[in-house]
Amino acid sequence: MCKAGPVISEPHDRIPETDQRPQIVHIVGARPNFVKAAPVVRGLAELGVRQVLVHTGQHYDPALSEVFFTDLGLPQPTLFLGVGSGAHAQQTAALMLGIDQAVTALKPELLVLYGDINSTLAAALVAAKRGLPIAHVEAGLRSFDRSMPEEINRKVVDALADIALVTSPEGIAHLGAEGVAAHKIHFVGNPMIDSLLTVRELGDLPALQARLSLPDRYAVATLHRPSNVDSPEAARSAVAALAGVSAEIPVVLPLHPRGRASLNAAGLADLGDVRVVEPLGYVEFAALLDGAALVVTDSGGIQEETTILGVPCLTLRPNTERPITITEGTNRLVTPETLGDAVRTALAADRYTGEGPPLWDGRAGQRIAKVLHRWLEEKAPT
Ligand code: UD1
Repeated sequence: MCKAGPVISEPHDRIPETDQRPQIVHIVGARPNFVKAAPVVRGLAELGVRQVLVHTGQHYDPALSEVFFTDLGLPQPTLFLGVGSGAHAQQTAALMLGIDQAVTALKPELLVLYGDINSTLAAALVAAKRGLPIAHVEAGLRSFDRSMPEEINRKVVDALADIALVTSPEGIAHLGAEGVAAHKIHFVGNPMIDSLLTVRELGDLPALQARLSLPDRYAVATLHRPSNVDSPEAARSAVAALAGVSAEIPVVLPLHPRGRASLNAAGLADLGDVRVVEPLGYVEFAALLDGAALVVTDSGGIQEETTILGVPCLTLRPNTERPITITEGTNRLVTPETLGDAVRTALAADRYTGEGPPLWDGRAGQRIAKVLHRWLEEKAPT
């Protein structure tokens, strides 16, 4: 899918005049980026900051991209780079070439980057080599597992960032231990939760349940991590684990394209009790999560969303970069072998009613906007 070179393409080719150049360019590329960027873009718009989005095209399926712009009210990207998928080196190289061209065209004062995906890594490398300052939203998360591509991305981006915007308190200590200067670190809360709280009431759960033939009590599963879906053995083990969950409670699985082929080859399609559906938009997915009795996932963001929704979450991974979701009591790490017992325990337990981690309060986007606005005023007068 990776194109031979970067493409700065229609239909959103609206490069501003020099005197109207953006102060901030947000680089976004994949589903979780859009959810984190929306509240930041809104907060900056309220402060009158000139800003545009560049979409790298790492995620290009409408179900992973377009629907998120609509659901979150995100402005259309000024540039769409159309980079697509590929092996890590190939995708990262294509992303770097495309982002370099975009930055040359747009000449911002600051790049704002989100999370830990390959688009984030590529943008950080390009910006650092050009001497262009970077702000990183979701700085300081660590799984301490270097076999995850996202962990490498996080460490490199945080080492290069000028402004580290931390979503969870332990991130402050992680950055300090890696030598990031205290003045660069800002604890701002979690903008993904701003988006969740914005859309929480918007979805029509009964209509969704009718469409997906879901009973009142159901579990939601999502699986897409390379460690769970890339190899035939891992996929077989994941499918067996899902079969175990569906013996306890009906399961709906909105399936990321990444896992489709391997999970189907491992027998997913034959599991009668698991409803496999296309990926959902953000409003519908939030409603589905909110109504669930239980969630089984390997996603990062869903561990956080279930904490705020008070839905028990079982994370099919050996570690997490989001340990606060475990200490809050909503999340538990499981293996395919321990999943069955964990499902029964979670379904029998009382629901979490805590207030959630500090500053996961729906106002992180505004805090981030304030930090960036102040930085623009102090460091880079236009
Ligand atoms: C990426 C992020 C991951 C994040 C996830 C959210 C990296 C290293 N990983 O993983 O952190 O949790 O996004 O979804 O950046 N594909 C499609 N259509 C699309 C996009 C992808 O079919 O629109 C398929 C392709 O077969 C592709 C595979 O998914 O090869 C992987 O896509 P990629 O962008 O490499 O990473 P994700 O697995 O989506």
